[in-house]
Amino acid sequence: MVKDLGISLCGLHFANPVVPASGTFGFGLELADAFDLNLLGGISLKGTTREARYGNPTPRIAEACGGMLNAVGLQNPGIDALVEDKVPALRKIYRGVVIANISGFSVGEYAACCARADACEGIDVLEVNVSCPNVHNGGMAFGTDPQAAAAVTRAVREVSRKPVFVKLSPNVSDIVSIARACEDAGADGLTLVNTFLGMRIDIRARRPVLANGTGGYSGRAIFPVALRMVHQVAHACRIPVMGCGGVATAADVIEMMMAGASVVQVGSENVRNPYACPEIIAALPELMDKLGIDKLSDIIATV
Ligand SMILES: Cc1cc2nc3c(=O)[nH]c(=O)nc-3n(C[C@H](O)[C@H](O)[C@H](O)COP(=O)(O)O)c2cc1C
Repeated sequence: MVKDLGISLCGLHFANPVVPASGTFGFGLELADAFDLNLLGGISLKGTTREARYGNPTPRIAEACGGMLNAVGLQNPGIDALVEDKVPALRKIYRGVVIANISGFSVGEYAACCARADACEGIDVLEVNVSCPNVHNGGMAFGTDPQAAAAVTRAVREVSRKPVFVKLSPNVSDIVSIARACEDAGADGLTLVNTFLGMRIDIRARRPVLANGTGGYSGRAIFPVALRMVHQVAHACRIPVMGCGGVATAADVIEMMMAGASVVQVGSENVRNPYACPEIIAALPELMDKLGIDKLSDIIATV
């Protein structure tokens, strides 16, 4: 029997729920020679800031059990390059949902970037990464405080007509309070989770492995924690959730959807295996058959 993998979300159609997560798939074109990008339900592009950034000093990546640490530091070519070069070039070959991932260090920067991205024809969704430090508030990440997360959401909402998804940080004790604050401030949806703050030490050199000292931990090991947060938020909020964190197989996608995700993002697994997303998509129909699922959207938030 033919399986229905399609998902509708905020008026957009995803051919399937699998989306490479921001920062693990460049601006899409980098992987265009590896496989047909049109197999992907959507693509979340590399986090973009108002100005171009070189990112952190190297080393920026460290291996860790069941995943990886990164401290890339938002290296990106800036919002002008995103809307003038990267998205138009991707749109020449890609018809699926394009998600612009926007980062900022002040509420004003988020709003300015989102206004530019909103006006860019090739972008369908604005994904607002609130894991960045607020330079006007001692560097505390916007996403660790409900009021700061709401302030960013409100400012972005005011300048955008496109769906706004706020991407939450898991480095909090009460993810639901942050999620609700974003929902009340006008978010159309939520993406969760970003990376967990971590660290590795080189015991011979007696210094941190990452030049930045700390970094974000991601990959298969975080899956159960991410799943728990997706479940909590999907059951506490009315807006849709894109689930992310440790997803590496078709079974993980189904589990995330049962927990409450409408769309599922795959991050670090792309770094390990660039073919991860098309392989997961190809494996979904057979697994659905085994589990007696005809329509993938039927299983969202069923557990
Ligand atoms: C190398 C790297 C770069 C990342 N860059 C971004 C980014 O620019 N913006 C963002 O919102 N998340 C970024 N992330 C976080 C991922 O999008 C994802 O939320 C996180 O890695 C958890 O998913 P995973 O376990 O499948 O990797 C990055 C992750 C990695 C590994």
